[in-house]
Amino acid sequence: MSWESDTTGYPERTFPTRVLNADSSSFYFRGKGKEPYTNAALDIASGSEAERSIYLAKLAITKSHLVAFPTETVYGLGANALDADAVSKIFRAKGRPVDNPLIVHISDLDMLQKLLPDGYELSPVYSALISKFWPGALTLLFPVDEAKVPSIVRCGLKTLGIRMPSHPVARALIAASGLPLAAPSANASGRPSPTTAMHVHRDLTARKGEEVVGRLPFILDGGPCHVGLESTVVDGVSSKNELRVLRPGGIGVEEIEEALRGRDLLAGAVGASTGAVRLRVYGKDMKRDKIEEANPTTPGMKYRHYSPDADVILLVCGEWRKAEGGGSDALRSPSILLHEFINDLVSHHSQHHGGKLRIGVMSMDDSKLTKALFPQEASSCQVDDAAYHLQHFSLGSQKTPNLAAQRLFEGLRTLDEGGGATDGKGCDVILVEALDNDAGVGLAFMNRLQKAASRAVHIQV
Ligand code: TXA
Ligand code: MG
Repeated sequence: MSWESDTTGYPERTFPTRVLNADSSSFYFRGKGKEPYTNAALDIASGSEAERSIYLAKLAITKSHLVAFPTETVYGLGANALDADAVSKIFRAKGRPVDNPLIVHISDLDMLQKLLPDGYELSPVYSALISKFWPGALTLLFPVDEAKVPSIVRCGLKTLGIRMPSHPVARALIAASGLPLAAPSANASGRPSPTTAMHVHRDLTARKGEEVVGRLPFILDGGPCHVGLESTVVDGVSSKNELRVLRPGGIGVEEIEEALRGRDLLAGAVGASTGAVRLRVYGKDMKRDKIEEANPTTPGMKYRHYSPDADVILLVCGEWRKAEGGGSDALRSPSILLHEFINDLVSHHSQHHGGKLRIGVMSMDDSKLTKALFPQEASSCQVDDAAYHLQHFSLGSQKTPNLAAQRLFEGLRTLDEGGGATDGKGCDVILVEALDNDAGVGLAFMNRLQKAASRAVHIQV
């Protein structure tokens, strides 16, 4: 949705949106002891461009405006979390459903303390997770003090999601403002999350005559995000003996498990102490999920998320193995030969740009799929056939799933918009190769992909 089609009247004033350079190396944090610091003091290289950028962004935040900023996961669209009016602008700027709660971002533990109910003490499990993963890509849910945080941030829920980002620019903006920032991903609702300042710019601004105007005065540009997928959201408060991973993300489930095991906090493990919890992960049974998500009538596919305009299809390559504990559907779902699938796509797909079907392919350079579709070596990332045009976007190597995660949203946007194509035309359909392993960030990769895709197809290569 562009700001022009906004009928809510926000912003009454549209801003000449400016992208401000903010070089991460200009920021430095000091504190006593180890990270995460209780009081993180911010040093900024004096006279630097980054210093000026943070100053302008901080002014905007303190005046109830929105500022987009980089985090290590994805870019966020931030507002003062303690100011309900400022937070309401986030929902309107993104076109975000009003029942989708926001994460609050902090720069040190002192700020965390101020958000939590008086007298609240961290559980041993939360202490372990905070000392291991903060600052970083982990969001924890906490009980809420209604008087401290406006209801709009958490959409009236009894819990509040909080994280301490590790990106120096995000942390510097929070520390310089002295305010916790409520921030969802800075995309227009439903679009892939932004991993560069340009992605934010595309979603939240528009050209009006000579000017670029938008819903926010500033976008801080700190370069591409290195994780590329959002934080892992973990709930350790709703159930006494359980730690629930609600959304897989930048921190892998195995890492969380390892951190708990190391402190004897994993229930069922030898030597588990009191206060130990069982780790539960929604959607961890990926093999079964792949089948379920492939069925358009399953609830998981009801809403599309992370979607570019092009139709996204998930390609599961290789021999399909039977999922543990059932999943017999997998065996009944026939895998089809790659060339048959492409032929079928060309004959039946509804959109065609200029007669030829334009197919984007996001795949690992060393996979069988890439070798089958782009036999001319990696140097040739396009294939022009009479009936279709293939455009490759590399997800790195099969050995580097972190790179695939980092490039997923970038690839969806690039292929959708025609970036990389010699004629600059966008793709009609984007095929994305599934990772064969859901360890680490692989779980988050497949989770986002399943939400972006209209269907999954099993291919024999
Ligand atoms: O990495 C990230 O988490 C990024 C960066 C900007 O920090 N933020 C982000 O925010 O992804 P957003 O709003 O796009 O996604 C936040 C997710 C939503 O799915 C929301 O439902 C969930 O976190 N969430 C937030 N607060 C919650 C709560 N109190 N209970 C359950 N889920 C919550
Ligand atoms: Mg989001």
